[in-house]
Amino acid sequence: MIVGYCVGEISLSELTFISDKMPQVGEYVTVEYDDKKVLGMVESLVRGNDALNIDLHDVGAIQTIARMGKKDYYIKGKVKLLGDVYDNLRLPRSPALPGTPINLADKEILKDVFDVKYPLRLGTLVNQSDVEVNVEANPILNRHLAILAMTGAGKSNTVSVLIDQLLGYNVPVFVFDMHGEYRDAEFPNGEVNLIRPKINPTYMTFYEVKKLVNIPNNAYIQEKHFRRGFRKAKSMVSDGTAHTNNFLQIIYDILDKSSKEEGSDKQIVDVMNKIDDAMDKYDSLFDNNIGNILTNIKVGHVNVLDLSQSDESVGEVLVSHIMRNSLKMRKNAVHNNGKDSLNHPVFYIIEEAHILAPNKRDSTSKHWIQRIAREGRKFGLGLCLVSQSPKTVDHDALSQMNNMIILRLVEPEDQRHVQSASESLSKDLINQLPSLNVGEAIVLGLMTKVPTLVKIDEFKGRRHGGDLNIIEELSNFNKAQIDEIEKQERESLDLGYDY
Ligand SMILES: Nc1ncnc2c1ncn2[C@@H]1O[C@H](COP(=O)(O)OP(=O)(O)O)[C@@H](O)[C@H]1O
Ligand SMILES: [Mg+2]
Repeated sequence: MIVGYCVGEISLSELTFISDKMPQVGEYVTVEYDDKKVLGMVESLVRGNDALNIDLHDVGAIQTIARMGKKDYYIKGKVKLLGDVYDNLRLPRSPALPGTPINLADKEILKDVFDVKYPLRLGTLVNQSDVEVNVEANPILNRHLAILAMTGAGKSNTVSVLIDQLLGYNVPVFVFDMHGEYRDAEFPNGEVNLIRPKINPTYMTFYEVKKLVNIPNNAYIQEKHFRRGFRKAKSMVSDGTAHTNNFLQIIYDILDKSSKEEGSDKQIVDVMNKIDDAMDKYDSLFDNNIGNILTNIKVGHVNVLDLSQSDESVGEVLVSHIMRNSLKMRKNAVHNNGKDSLNHPVFYIIEEAHILAPNKRDSTSKHWIQRIAREGRKFGLGLCLVSQSPKTVDHDALSQMNNMIILRLVEPEDQRHVQSASESLSKDLINQLPSLNVGEAIVLGLMTKVPTLVKIDEFKGRRHGGDLNIIEELSNFNKAQIDEIEKQERESLDLGYDY
């Protein structure tokens, strides 16, 4: 079906068309010329009327023309050209002629575009619910993914759909579950393996623990005392002579003892005060009796680290610890260095990425997220950053995400930040972001041959974390309260009190 004709100057990457029909933004079209069939996507549309141009200021005249010429409008649209269907979707080397007709793309062509080797089904085309959208699995696992959108636009639903598809390939997925949304989830393609947010201190480095306790880098004497305590504590944990699970308490007691024996030294007291400050914050983080957290990961499972009860700072420690260790252990595995190795890839999903990899602030978790973003692909470590505040996600990490699923996103600052991190997101596509409905997304990057407007499937399994029905809850609450008051009144009457 012809939907318009090329007009104006046509380039190799985009064209303008005029039409009397209304195609839809996001719809695919083809232009045939010089033995080519070039696929394109309608990126923007405007409607106009030559007789009613912007210079007309006479309201009476406007009313008359509008009454007479209801059908005299035109539709002008812009098409982003994506590549020649006959030539593996490579961009053509010569542009189309003005006047060339533009057709809606055949379903067969679209089915071909979304027919990939290791498909992950995300949903269907927004404009054509009978065309399913599959993306290629390997580029996501190798080259990372960002899922960005405002709250309630459907990020977690997308994550769930993606997890389930990955489970279909036995991929070990690891979710940093900030809100306890996934721990009780049920996935048709695999089971949840719950991982407790605990670290055995013997797997922590001196620098990790020093960071927790906030000993500054240039405080050499404090560092010396702390190091002594750290070493002793670690060996006590290793040989089982430690009497508590709180690693910091063990170090504290060691320093306390030595300061009593050797006479108190201001520097030791300083260190002890710092440990004291850190103890409350991290008391639940340590467990001397568990193995390396990474050896608990199960292949073909979604491994869920439940952080919903943990403080943000604990989340940060766990993220850095896990990222650092997985990089180290995957390096060992790839280089066949038998000890301490992780013998399978992992795909990490980090919700609230703006907290764990903030744009303007330095943090250890951000450092290790950046490392995985840059180096992970050599070692089979994939990363998926999820955020409702893209503008506050670290730009470096974001620009390493070679795949993006962007749902409704209204804030201009967010849009600019995302655009500057992704070369394939055009201005016209950005302009579509505010008008997406819940669950509709622009999908782009290496995982797809062409940018796509997708209606993401509604997750079929079970997951927590939709909006609460507050009105319902309060109405029950009210009723329960009234019942309670009435009950008390009855009881007090029974006791003979008189109101
Ligand atoms: N693709 C979709 N299809 C149907 N409903 C959806 C879809 N995505 C989201 N929703 C609905 O919107 C609600 C919020 O989605 P959610 O994924 O929790 O948003 P976010 O994580 O972005 O805050 C869900 O509870 C669900 O009811
Ligand atoms: Mg969410």
